[in-house]
Amino acid sequence: MITAEKLYEKLKDIQVGNPVCRFTQEHCELLLPTIRRIEELKREKNAIILVHNYVAPQIFYSVADYTGDSYGLSKKAKESDADVIVFSAVRFMAETAKILNPGKVVLDPNPDGGCSLADGITAKDVIRLRKEFPDHTFVCYINTTAEVKAQCDVCVTSSNVYAIIEKIPNDRIYFLPDRLMGENVIKHLEARGVNKDIQLWDGACYVHEEYQPESIDQVRRNFEGVEILVHPECRSSVVDKADYVGSTSQMLDHVRESKRDSFFLLTECGLTGVLQSEFPEKTFAGSCTLCKYMKFNSLEDILSVLENPSPRSIVEIDLETQKRALQCVERMFHYTS
Ligand code: 13P
Ligand code: SF4
Repeated sequence: MITAEKLYEKLKDIQVGNPVCRFTQEHCELLLPTIRRIEELKREKNAIILVHNYVAPQIFYSVADYTGDSYGLSKKAKESDADVIVFSAVRFMAETAKILNPGKVVLDPNPDGGCSLADGITAKDVIRLRKEFPDHTFVCYINTTAEVKAQCDVCVTSSNVYAIIEKIPNDRIYFLPDRLMGENVIKHLEARGVNKDIQLWDGACYVHEEYQPESIDQVRRNFEGVEILVHPECRSSVVDKADYVGSTSQMLDHVRESKRDSFFLLTECGLTGVLQSEFPEKTFAGSCTLCKYMKFNSLEDILSVLENPSPRSIVEIDLETQKRALQCVERMFHYTS
Protein backbone atom coordinates (compact mmCIF):
# COMPACT_ATOMS: atom_id res chain seq x y z
CA MET A 1 0.00 0.00 0.00
CA ILE A 2 1.23 3.48 -0.84
CA THR A 3 2.41 5.65 2.04
CA ALA A 4 3.32 9.35 2.11
CA GLU A 5 7.00 8.32 2.48
CA LYS A 6 6.90 6.06 -0.59
CA LEU A 7 5.12 8.68 -2.66
CA TYR A 8 7.57 11.38 -1.58
CA GLU A 9 10.46 9.07 -2.50
CA LYS A 10 9.08 8.98 -6.07
CA LEU A 11 8.33 12.72 -6.30
CA LYS A 12 11.28 14.30 -4.49
CA ASP A 13 13.59 14.58 -7.52
CA ILE A 14 10.98 16.13 -9.82
CA GLN A 15 11.53 19.80 -10.51
CA VAL A 16 9.83 21.03 -13.65
CA GLY A 17 8.18 24.31 -14.49
CA ASN A 18 9.11 27.92 -14.13
CA PRO A 19 9.30 28.84 -11.29
CA VAL A 20 10.51 25.39 -10.33
CA CYS A 21 8.06 23.58 -8.03
CA ARG A 22 9.11 20.73 -5.78
CA PHE A 23 7.03 18.24 -3.84
CA THR A 24 7.35 18.00 -0.07
CA GLN A 25 6.54 15.13 2.30
CA GLU A 26 3.79 17.31 3.88
CA HIS A 27 2.18 17.70 0.45
CA CYS A 28 2.25 13.91 -0.03
CA GLU A 29 0.58 13.43 3.38
CA LEU A 30 -2.22 15.79 2.34
CA LEU A 31 -2.82 13.74 -0.82
CA LEU A 32 -3.04 10.45 1.04
CA PRO A 33 -6.77 10.42 2.07
CA THR A 34 -7.83 10.98 -1.56
CA ILE A 35 -5.44 8.29 -2.81
CA ARG A 36 -6.67 5.79 -0.19
CA ARG A 37 -10.32 6.41 -1.10
CA ILE A 38 -9.53 5.94 -4.81
CA GLU A 39 -7.80 2.63 -4.02
CA GLU A 40 -10.86 1.47 -2.03
CA LEU A 41 -13.23 2.35 -4.87
CA LYS A 42 -11.00 0.57 -7.39
CA ARG A 43 -11.32 -2.64 -5.39
CA GLU A 44 -15.09 -2.21 -4.85
CA LYS A 45 -15.83 -1.58 -8.52
CA ASN A 46 -13.16 -3.84 -10.05
CA ALA A 47 -11.70 -0.79 -11.80
CA ILE A 48 -8.28 -0.07 -13.27
CA ILE A 49 -6.70 3.33 -13.83
CA LEU A 50 -4.64 4.03 -16.95
CA VAL A 51 -2.41 7.12 -16.78
CA HIS A 52 -0.55 8.75 -19.67
CA ASN A 53 3.13 9.71 -19.32
CA TYR A 54 2.22 13.44 -19.43
CA VAL A 55 -0.21 13.38 -16.49
CA ALA A 56 0.82 15.00 -13.18
CA PRO A 57 3.34 12.89 -11.24
CA GLN A 58 1.25 12.74 -8.05
CA ILE A 59 -1.33 10.78 -10.12
CA PHE A 60 1.24 8.84 -12.16
CA TYR A 61 3.02 7.59 -9.03
CA SER A 62 0.03 6.92 -6.75
CA VAL A 63 -3.15 5.43 -8.25
CA ALA A 64 -2.06 4.26 -11.72
CA ASP A 65 -2.32 0.55 -12.56
CA TYR A 66 -0.64 1.14 -15.91
CA THR A 67 1.27 4.09 -17.27
CA GLY A 68 2.55 4.60 -20.78
CA ASP A 69 2.19 6.16 -24.22
CA SER A 70 -0.99 6.12 -26.26
CA TYR A 71 -0.10 2.80 -27.93
CA GLY A 72 0.76 0.97 -24.69
CA LEU A 73 -2.30 2.25 -22.87
CA SER A 74 -4.61 1.32 -25.78
CA LYS A 75 -3.23 -2.19 -25.63
CA LYS A 76 -3.87 -2.36 -21.87
CA ALA A 77 -7.44 -1.11 -22.42
CA LYS A 78 -8.02 -3.71 -25.14
CA GLU A 79 -6.74 -6.58 -22.96
CA SER A 80 -8.32 -5.50 -19.68
CA ASP A 81 -10.82 -7.74 -17.93
CA ALA A 82 -11.69 -5.12 -15.28
CA ASP A 83 -15.32 -3.95 -15.20
CA VAL A 84 -14.38 -0.27 -15.21
CA ILE A 85 -11.53 1.52 -16.99
CA VAL A 86 -10.67 5.02 -15.75
CA PHE A 87 -8.52 6.80 -18.33
CA SER A 88 -6.53 9.70 -16.94
CA ALA A 89 -5.27 11.52 -20.05
CA VAL A 90 -7.31 13.30 -22.74
CA ARG A 91 -10.65 12.52 -24.39
CA PHE A 92 -9.45 10.78 -27.56
CA MET A 93 -7.48 8.25 -25.46
CA ALA A 94 -10.55 7.41 -23.32
CA GLU A 95 -12.60 7.07 -26.52
CA THR A 96 -10.02 4.68 -27.98
CA ALA A 97 -10.37 2.49 -24.86
CA LYS A 98 -14.15 2.36 -25.40
CA ILE A 99 -13.68 1.55 -29.12
CA LEU A 100 -11.38 -1.35 -28.22
CA ASN A 101 -13.33 -2.71 -25.26
CA PRO A 102 -16.94 -1.54 -25.69
CA GLY A 103 -18.38 -3.88 -23.05
CA LYS A 104 -16.55 -2.04 -20.26
CA VAL A 105 -17.57 1.11 -18.47
CA VAL A 106 -14.95 3.66 -19.56
CA LEU A 107 -14.73 6.72 -17.33
CA ASP A 108 -13.04 9.96 -18.33
CA PRO A 109 -12.28 12.11 -15.28
CA ASN A 110 -11.25 14.89 -17.67
CA PRO A 111 -14.09 15.14 -20.24
CA ASP A 112 -12.90 18.61 -21.31
CA GLY A 113 -9.45 17.22 -22.08
CA GLY A 114 -9.28 18.22 -25.73
CA CYS A 115 -6.23 18.11 -27.97
CA SER A 116 -5.36 20.63 -30.66
CA LEU A 117 -4.86 17.77 -33.12
CA ALA A 118 -8.06 15.84 -32.36
CA ASP A 119 -10.08 19.07 -32.30
CA GLY A 120 -8.70 20.22 -35.66
CA ILE A 121 -10.54 17.80 -37.98
CA THR A 122 -14.08 16.40 -38.18
CA ALA A 123 -15.64 13.29 -39.73
CA LYS A 124 -17.27 15.57 -42.33
CA ASP A 125 -13.80 16.79 -43.37
CA VAL A 126 -12.67 13.19 -43.89
CA ILE A 127 -15.79 12.26 -45.89
CA ARG A 128 -15.10 15.21 -48.20
CA LEU A 129 -11.38 14.33 -48.53
CA ARG A 130 -12.18 10.71 -49.38
CA LYS A 131 -14.15 11.94 -52.39
CA GLU A 132 -11.21 14.11 -53.42
CA PHE A 133 -8.64 11.31 -52.92
CA PRO A 134 -10.57 8.10 -53.71
CA ASP A 135 -7.46 5.98 -54.32
CA HIS A 136 -5.62 6.95 -51.13
CA THR A 137 -5.45 4.88 -47.95
CA PHE A 138 -6.57 7.14 -45.10
CA VAL A 139 -4.23 6.87 -42.12
CA CYS A 140 -5.22 8.70 -38.95
CA TYR A 141 -3.09 9.51 -35.93
CA ILE A 142 -4.63 8.16 -32.72
CA ASN A 143 -5.08 11.82 -31.71
CA THR A 144 -8.48 11.95 -33.45
CA THR A 145 -12.11 11.52 -32.35
CA ALA A 146 -13.95 8.19 -32.67
CA GLU A 147 -16.01 9.70 -35.53
CA VAL A 148 -12.85 10.57 -37.49
CA LYS A 149 -11.35 7.11 -36.87
CA ALA A 150 -14.61 5.59 -38.16
CA GLN A 151 -13.99 7.29 -41.54
CA CYS A 152 -10.34 6.18 -41.83
CA ASP A 153 -8.62 2.92 -42.80
CA VAL A 154 -5.66 2.58 -40.42
CA CYS A 155 -4.86 4.20 -37.08
CA VAL A 156 -1.26 4.86 -35.98
CA THR A 157 0.50 6.26 -32.92
CA SER A 158 3.79 8.12 -32.55
CA SER A 159 5.48 4.77 -31.76
CA ASN A 160 4.57 3.07 -35.04
CA VAL A 161 3.64 5.75 -37.61
CA TYR A 162 6.85 5.41 -39.66
CA ALA A 163 6.76 1.60 -39.79
CA ILE A 164 3.04 1.29 -40.54
CA ILE A 165 2.97 3.85 -43.36
CA GLU A 166 5.97 2.09 -44.90
CA LYS A 167 4.22 -1.31 -44.64
CA ILE A 168 0.85 -0.27 -46.09
CA PRO A 169 0.80 -1.80 -49.60
CA ASN A 170 -0.83 1.27 -51.21
CA ASP A 171 1.71 3.96 -52.18
CA ARG A 172 -0.96 6.65 -52.01
CA ILE A 173 -1.56 7.73 -48.43
CA TYR A 174 -3.61 10.53 -46.87
CA PHE A 175 -2.24 11.14 -43.37
CA LEU A 176 -4.18 13.24 -40.88
CA PRO A 177 -4.37 15.42 -38.85
CA ASP A 178 -0.71 16.20 -37.92
CA ARG A 179 1.09 17.98 -40.76
CA LEU A 180 4.41 18.12 -38.88
CA MET A 181 4.39 14.40 -38.10
CA GLY A 182 3.42 13.75 -41.74
CA GLU A 183 6.40 15.79 -42.95
CA ASN A 184 8.65 13.73 -40.68
CA VAL A 185 7.22 10.52 -42.17
CA ILE A 186 7.86 11.78 -45.72
CA LYS A 187 11.50 12.61 -44.89
CA HIS A 188 12.02 9.30 -43.09
CA LEU A 189 10.65 7.28 -46.01
CA GLU A 190 12.65 9.29 -48.57
CA ALA A 191 15.82 8.55 -46.58
CA ARG A 192 14.95 4.84 -46.77
CA GLY A 193 14.37 5.07 -50.53
CA VAL A 194 10.60 4.55 -50.18
CA ASN A 195 8.54 6.69 -52.52
CA LYS A 196 4.92 7.27 -51.65
CA ASP A 197 2.47 10.03 -52.49
CA ILE A 198 1.62 11.27 -48.98
CA GLN A 199 -1.04 13.98 -48.69
CA LEU A 200 -1.36 15.87 -45.39
CA TRP A 201 -4.03 17.67 -43.37
CA ASP A 202 -2.90 20.97 -41.83
CA GLY A 203 -3.15 20.21 -38.09
CA ALA A 204 -0.51 20.54 -35.36
CA CYS A 205 0.03 19.92 -31.67
CA TYR A 206 0.09 23.35 -30.07
CA VAL A 207 2.77 22.19 -27.60
CA HIS A 208 5.25 20.58 -30.00
CA GLU A 209 4.90 23.02 -32.91
CA GLU A 210 6.41 25.76 -30.73
CA TYR A 211 9.88 24.17 -30.58
CA GLN A 212 12.50 25.66 -32.90
CA PRO A 213 15.83 24.20 -34.09
CA GLU A 214 17.76 27.17 -32.63
CA SER A 215 17.05 25.95 -29.08
CA ILE A 216 18.82 22.69 -29.94
CA ASP A 217 21.88 24.59 -31.26
CA GLN A 218 21.99 26.62 -28.07
CA VAL A 219 21.73 23.57 -25.79
CA ARG A 220 24.46 21.76 -27.71
CA ARG A 221 26.73 24.82 -27.29
CA ASN A 222 26.07 25.00 -23.54
CA PHE A 223 25.98 21.32 -22.56
CA GLU A 224 28.73 19.22 -24.05
CA GLY A 225 27.72 15.61 -24.69
CA VAL A 226 24.01 16.27 -24.16
CA GLU A 227 21.63 13.90 -25.95
CA ILE A 228 18.61 15.54 -27.61
CA LEU A 229 15.31 13.63 -27.61
CA VAL A 230 12.23 14.87 -29.46
CA HIS A 231 8.68 13.73 -30.15
CA PRO A 232 7.64 13.16 -33.80
CA GLU A 233 4.98 15.89 -33.41
CA CYS A 234 7.86 18.42 -33.60
CA ARG A 235 8.63 20.19 -36.90
CA SER A 236 11.10 18.41 -39.18
CA SER A 237 13.76 21.13 -38.77
CA VAL A 238 13.79 20.15 -35.06
CA VAL A 239 13.68 16.38 -35.68
CA ASP A 240 16.61 16.72 -38.13
CA LYS A 241 18.85 18.08 -35.36
CA ALA A 242 17.83 15.55 -32.70
CA ASP A 243 19.70 12.42 -31.63
CA TYR A 244 16.54 10.41 -31.06
CA VAL A 245 12.89 10.72 -32.09
CA GLY A 246 10.19 8.59 -30.52
CA SER A 247 6.94 8.29 -28.60
CA THR A 248 6.88 9.23 -24.92
CA SER A 249 7.50 5.63 -23.80
CA GLN A 250 10.18 5.12 -26.45
CA MET A 251 12.01 8.22 -25.11
CA LEU A 252 11.78 6.79 -21.59
CA ASP A 253 13.23 3.46 -22.75
CA HIS A 254 15.91 5.27 -24.71
CA VAL A 255 17.09 7.21 -21.64
CA ARG A 256 17.10 3.95 -19.63
CA GLU A 257 19.42 2.34 -22.18
CA SER A 258 21.57 5.36 -23.05
CA LYS A 259 25.18 5.55 -21.87
CA ARG A 260 24.96 9.37 -21.74
CA ASP A 261 24.14 11.19 -18.51
CA SER A 262 22.64 14.47 -19.72
CA PHE A 263 19.58 14.92 -21.88
CA PHE A 264 17.46 17.67 -23.40
CA LEU A 265 13.87 16.77 -24.18
CA LEU A 266 11.55 18.65 -26.49
CA THR A 267 8.18 17.42 -25.28
CA GLU A 268 5.60 17.89 -22.54
CA CYS A 269 6.86 18.42 -18.97
CA GLY A 270 5.12 15.32 -17.55
CA LEU A 271 7.65 13.07 -19.24
CA THR A 272 10.58 15.13 -17.98
CA GLY A 273 9.20 14.70 -14.45
CA VAL A 274 8.98 10.92 -14.85
CA LEU A 275 12.57 10.82 -16.11
CA GLN A 276 13.82 12.95 -13.21
CA SER A 277 12.14 10.56 -10.79
CA GLU A 278 13.32 7.36 -12.50
CA PHE A 279 16.90 8.49 -13.18
CA PRO A 280 17.94 10.91 -10.40
CA GLU A 281 21.62 10.32 -11.27
CA LYS A 282 21.07 11.77 -14.78
CA THR A 283 20.64 15.44 -15.72
CA PHE A 284 17.73 16.76 -17.77
CA ALA A 285 18.74 20.14 -19.15
CA GLY A 286 16.58 23.02 -20.24
CA SER A 287 12.87 23.42 -20.34
CA CYS A 288 9.73 21.62 -21.41
CA THR A 289 6.17 22.76 -22.08
CA LEU A 290 2.86 21.99 -20.39
CA CYS A 291 -0.11 20.58 -22.29
CA LYS A 292 -3.04 22.35 -20.65
CA TYR A 293 -5.38 19.49 -21.58
CA MET A 294 -3.28 16.82 -19.87
CA LYS A 295 -2.83 19.12 -16.88
CA PHE A 296 -6.61 19.29 -16.25
CA ASN A 297 -6.28 15.83 -14.65
CA SER A 298 -6.48 15.77 -10.85
CA LEU A 299 -6.77 13.16 -8.10
CA GLU A 300 -10.02 14.83 -6.97
CA ASP A 301 -11.60 14.30 -10.41
CA ILE A 302 -10.52 10.66 -10.45
CA LEU A 303 -12.14 10.19 -7.05
CA SER A 304 -15.33 11.91 -8.12
CA VAL A 305 -15.61 9.94 -11.38
CA LEU A 306 -15.34 6.69 -9.41
CA GLU A 307 -17.80 7.84 -6.72
CA ASN A 308 -20.42 9.41 -8.91
CA PRO A 309 -19.62 9.84 -12.60
CA SER A 310 -21.35 12.67 -14.45
CA PRO A 311 -23.03 11.66 -17.74
CA ARG A 312 -20.25 13.43 -19.72
CA SER A 313 -17.55 11.47 -17.99
CA ILE A 314 -19.06 8.11 -19.02
CA VAL A 315 -17.67 7.49 -22.52
CA GLU A 316 -20.42 6.43 -24.94
CA ILE A 317 -19.94 5.85 -28.67
CA ASP A 318 -22.80 4.86 -30.97
CA LEU A 319 -22.56 1.26 -32.19
CA GLU A 320 -22.00 2.01 -35.89
CA THR A 321 -19.18 4.50 -35.14
CA GLN A 322 -17.59 2.12 -32.59
CA LYS A 323 -17.59 -0.80 -35.06
CA ARG A 324 -16.07 1.22 -37.90
CA ALA A 325 -13.50 2.88 -35.64
CA LEU A 326 -12.60 -0.54 -34.22
CA GLN A 327 -11.66 -1.83 -37.68
CA CYS A 328 -9.40 1.18 -38.13
CA VAL A 329 -7.66 0.70 -34.75
CA GLU A 330 -7.48 -3.10 -35.14
CA ARG A 331 -5.52 -2.60 -38.38
CA MET A 332 -2.87 -0.83 -36.29
CA PHE A 333 -2.55 -3.92 -34.09
CA HIS A 334 -2.43 -6.09 -37.20
CA TYR A 335 0.52 -4.07 -38.53
CA THR A 336 2.34 -4.04 -35.19
CA SER A 337 1.87 -7.74 -34.32
P1 13P B 1 2.53 9.33 -27.14
O1 13P B 1 1.71 8.29 -27.82
O2 13P B 1 3.94 9.42 -27.67
O3 13P B 1 2.50 9.18 -25.66
O4 13P B 1 1.96 10.77 -27.53
C1 13P B 1 0.71 11.22 -27.20
C2 13P B 1 0.62 12.68 -27.35
O5 13P B 1 -0.43 13.24 -27.27
C3 13P B 1 1.85 13.42 -27.58
O6 13P B 1 1.62 14.78 -27.58
FE1 SF4 C 1 -2.72 16.87 -27.97
FE2 SF4 C 1 -0.36 18.10 -28.04
FE3 SF4 C 1 -1.61 17.82 -25.71
FE4 SF4 C 1 -0.53 15.67 -26.94
S1 SF4 C 1 0.57 17.44 -26.09
S2 SF4 C 1 -2.58 15.79 -26.00
S3 SF4 C 1 -0.92 16.20 -29.09
S4 SF4 C 1 -2.33 19.03 -27.46
